[in-house]
Amino acid sequence: MSEITRISISMEEELVEQFDAYTQEQGFPTRSEAIKNLIRDKLIQSQWEQDAHISGAVMVVYDHHKSGVVQKILTVQHDWDSLIHCSQHVHLDHKHCLEVIIVRGAGREIKEFLYQFRQIKGLKQSVFTESLAHQNGVVSEA
Ligand code: NI
Repeated sequence: MSEITRISISMEEELVEQFDAYTQEQGFPTRSEAIKNLIRDKLIQSQWEQDAHISGAVMVVYDHHKSGVVQKILTVQHDWDSLIHCSQHVHLDHKHCLEVIIVRGAGREIKEFLYQFRQIKGLKQSVFTESLAHQNGVVSEA
């Protein structure tokens, strides 16, 4: 486990009130958890901008009866085959499919892949979660 360093931050009272409201609304147990989460998000964003190597999972839910959806999902994945490590398909019920696609590669390319993926009409849900693993394989402590 990583060493924990205590830091103190000074900020305007109004900002603290807004931050406390955010912390509560988002369900973070403490200010520290909320701040850590915000910092990680910002660092991840920065990695994307710097075109670092990233990895993560796309989770998508769709109705396979909808015209063209399956074909479009397959086409986008084949267009970006170099980014896709593996995928898992689950038939949730008569209508719905859930697919998890593990991607890894340059942040800029993954961003483009996600953009094209989200253009597909008929997706019921589409979520991307980035792993905290760094390029050298070291995983940050949550
Ligand atoms: Ni299915």
